[in-house]
Amino acid sequence: MNNLSMGSQSIWMRTALPQFPVLREKLDTEVCVIGGGIAGLTTAYLLAREGKRVTLIDAAEIGGGETARTTAHFFPPDNRYFAIEEAFGTSKARLVAESFQQATALVESIVKSEKLDCEFERLDGYLFSLTLDGYADLDKEFDAARQAGIEVYRKERVPDLSFNTGPCLKFPNQAQFHPLKYLKGLAEAFQRNRGAIYTWTRALDIRSHDDILTVTTENGAIAAHSVVVATNTPFNDFVVMHTKQASYRTYVLGIRVPKGSVPRILLWDNGDPYYYIRLTTPDEKSEHEILVVGGADHKVGQDEHPHHRFDEIEKWVRQHYPMTGSVDFKWSGQVMEPADGVGYMGRNPMDDKNIYIITGDSGNGMTHCTVGAILITDLIMGRTNSWLDLYDPARKPTHGVPEFLKELGNTLAQYGDWVKGGDVVSPRKIPPGEGAILRKGGKKMAIYCDDKGKLYPLSAACTHLGCVISWNATEKSWDCPCHGSRFSVTGKVLHGPAAQPLKVMQLDP
Ligand SMILES: Cc1cc2nc3c(=O)[nH]c(=O)nc-3n(C[C@H](O)[C@H](O)[C@H](O)COP(=O)(O)OP(=O)(O)OC[C@H]3O[C@@H](n4cnc5c(N)ncnc54)[C@H](O)[C@@H]3O)c2cc1C
Ligand code: FES
Repeated sequence: MNNLSMGSQSIWMRTALPQFPVLREKLDTEVCVIGGGIAGLTTAYLLAREGKRVTLIDAAEIGGGETARTTAHFFPPDNRYFAIEEAFGTSKARLVAESFQQATALVESIVKSEKLDCEFERLDGYLFSLTLDGYADLDKEFDAARQAGIEVYRKERVPDLSFNTGPCLKFPNQAQFHPLKYLKGLAEAFQRNRGAIYTWTRALDIRSHDDILTVTTENGAIAAHSVVVATNTPFNDFVVMHTKQASYRTYVLGIRVPKGSVPRILLWDNGDPYYYIRLTTPDEKSEHEILVVGGADHKVGQDEHPHHRFDEIEKWVRQHYPMTGSVDFKWSGQVMEPADGVGYMGRNPMDDKNIYIITGDSGNGMTHCTVGAILITDLIMGRTNSWLDLYDPARKPTHGVPEFLKELGNTLAQYGDWVKGGDVVSPRKIPPGEGAILRKGGKKMAIYCDDKGKLYPLSAACTHLGCVISWNATEKSWDCPCHGSRFSVTGKVLHGPAAQPLKVMQLDP
């Protein structure tokens, strides 16, 4: 668990992950992987399996990021095959289909060969529409998925459900697992392949000199031939990548249902935002299962009191699944939406050729991050990969230009917050357990008041590119509306692209 966060806890976070030392020295390695989520650990494991000397570092604990907050569906691209075909053409849509299938097959083969106990199972996935308008898109998706070489069927409704979904598409042989049990097993398998892991070790910078890359951390440094930045959103690329993707928060409930009352399938609709649904079993002896339902997304830093989003999901679930019992889990997390709907994996643009990134995962991070790990392993091992151009982070946003401009406009509008007033006129107006922005002349302070009334004043300027941060009452964090950085109430970085903490300020006596 990411101990910096005071916020929500997912169902998966009950699984304890192994502990690792903090890096306090200088060391040499062949490959340095930064980030211990599914992207970083899969890349590190694949490279170590091929005999590379690999060192992985994480700013917090392994699995402390978004992989602990996922719902872990392996399903078709949530940006839809027909949109990918329109933007990139049929041959690239086929490559997306191929890469998604290979990624799921790789996870399955790792689970088998390394004997990982992580609840991996193959099951059917169903895409349906909540509105009549969405039926036409189902038809388009059926045709495009078929063109891309995917096995897909038209059905009148999703079978055995408590509500009538209406027409839907069935995608057989999709998958799900327990994400943290998978990461735990992957970390242990990586170590068996002589991999080294350091946690609570934040990468601050990557410098290049004479073909050697040096990753600077808070207490040490790592010299490497190649560096893989798998930090969900890259901290080393200050501007370029952050104009090509937008960060969204998404909300999940885990609700009790009697065992066997809900079919074991993956389910999602084609709205925007959409609901995504699966089942999980808390433990073998349990009399009930947990229905995991996500949705209600919004841009990071653009809803200060998002709790109503849990209520909206709950209302929808109870209307459609009358057998639901208590809400046992509520959590939120972050996804990076690429402007043109396809992830970014490969060489970091405008950087040393041996620095690689994996980002832009959208709601397909289980698959996208595994695709990125396969692709980057091939590049570092000197092999070609047919997915290289498709996922190239340097590609121009010629596809998805309207989405790109819309997100850019939204980001630029956030800088207008500097001329607005504060949320409160005095720090004493901040209720215990809440945070608020206070204006002082031309400056803004972000102040959290703890349950005992102690105030924590910080600069409200995000350390990435200076937007005004905003309070997140659900996660008890400071979130940046521009590119999705998040900070704890004491100013520590919870999510990039920021790499530096917020500046601590002093209040007038
Ligand atoms: C609620 C929710 C539901 C989702 N559902 C699905 C789904 O059903 N299917 C699907 O495929 N995807 C889904 N996703 C997306 C998926 O979970 C993510 O895309 C994926 O987990 C991202 O993995 P990652 O390894 O890139 O990032 P993370 O898991 O966030 O790992 C990044 C790691 O990097 C570390 N780090 C960051 N900065 C630094 C630094 N400077 N130095 C060192 N370490 C650093 C962090 O501490 C973290 O451990 C969902 C996401 C959310 C939030
Ligand atoms: S994340 Fe870019 S300015 Fe805050």
